[in-house]
Amino acid sequence: MIDKVKEFLAEVSAFNATTSEEIETFRIKFLGKKGILNDLFAEFKNVATADRKEFGQVLNSLKNNAQEKVNQLKESLENNQELKGIYGDLTKPEEPIELGARHPISIVKNKIIDVFSRVGFNVSEGPEIEDDWHNFTALNLPEYHPARDMQDTFFIEKDPDILLRTHTSSVQVRYMESHKPPIRTISPGRVFRNEDISARSHCIFHQVEGLYIDTDVSFADLKQTLLYFTKEMFGKSKIRLRPSYFPFTEPSAEVDIYWGLETEVDYKITKGTGWLEIMGCGMVDPNVLKNANIDSEKYSGYAFGMGIERIAMLLYQIPDIRMFYENDIRFLEQFKSVL
Ligand code: PHE
Repeated sequence: MIDKVKEFLAEVSAFNATTSEEIETFRIKFLGKKGILNDLFAEFKNVATADRKEFGQVLNSLKNNAQEKVNQLKESLENNQELKGIYGDLTKPEEPIELGARHPISIVKNKIIDVFSRVGFNVSEGPEIEDDWHNFTALNLPEYHPARDMQDTFFIEKDPDILLRTHTSSVQVRYMESHKPPIRTISPGRVFRNEDISARSHCIFHQVEGLYIDTDVSFADLKQTLLYFTKEMFGKSKIRLRPSYFPFTEPSAEVDIYWGLETEVDYKITKGTGWLEIMGCGMVDPNVLKNANIDSEKYSGYAFGMGIERIAMLLYQIPDIRMFYENDIRFLEQFKSVL
């Protein structure tokens, strides 16, 4: 009999419950009117006199322990519910954190970097505040050169001139000054021009510069690389190179891609021709190589430069360049799913 009670004692001490129903079932089982304890107390008279004392003691322990267990479980259940009241259900998985969106300029910049890094270009950067040498003179644009007027410059200081770079070509010079050929680098960055702000131009925008210097680099290499780029970037494989002029490249060209005339938007952005200008390029002028202490007899190279906004506007059919800088959440949120 006593052994039986000891087994119940063990059961009581091992018991655990998380719901009030479970606790109630336990209470009824041990402490209810027809419960185990009442049954056991009824047995009291059948116990041998010598054992009665011990039996009484274990029975009391069982009763106290069972009652205490019920109280204790109820209390911790209440505490949990109180916590729930303040913090909600702490066992529930959290609501997913809402994802932000990358800025379209970053998306396009990363795409361009990705395309060129697959064919061996690394990424280099230079300062936005430049001196005259890196932005102009070393690029074959000496003082009073008329082509300086092509790029309306924000000057910070005069004599010696410190300015906001007008193009990423300044990074070409810096890279050549500090690296020996072979050179394959692209330089994304922000550039500044003192221009009126409109739907198509802004005083702050972004460019990616490309520079490739090695022995025997030819115009054909340039053309092939550009073709690869337009295929990867736009899925378009028809390009044309129009002769153009940049002081730092000779010969120079402007690159157009055939965008097609499938939609009304295509008519609008290509002015009805189907062709779209996307960048400037050319063979690095030997004077520029000399200015950066590269042997122009031994090495040749090509360079190109493109505007990131322009490409982003094409890719995402963005009608106004100002949208990139207004930080309108309705605009930015549309790029959530793009990496
Ligand atoms: N720097 C030129 C521009 O800003 C683009 C360019 C880069 C052209 C490299 C030729 C070679 O317009």
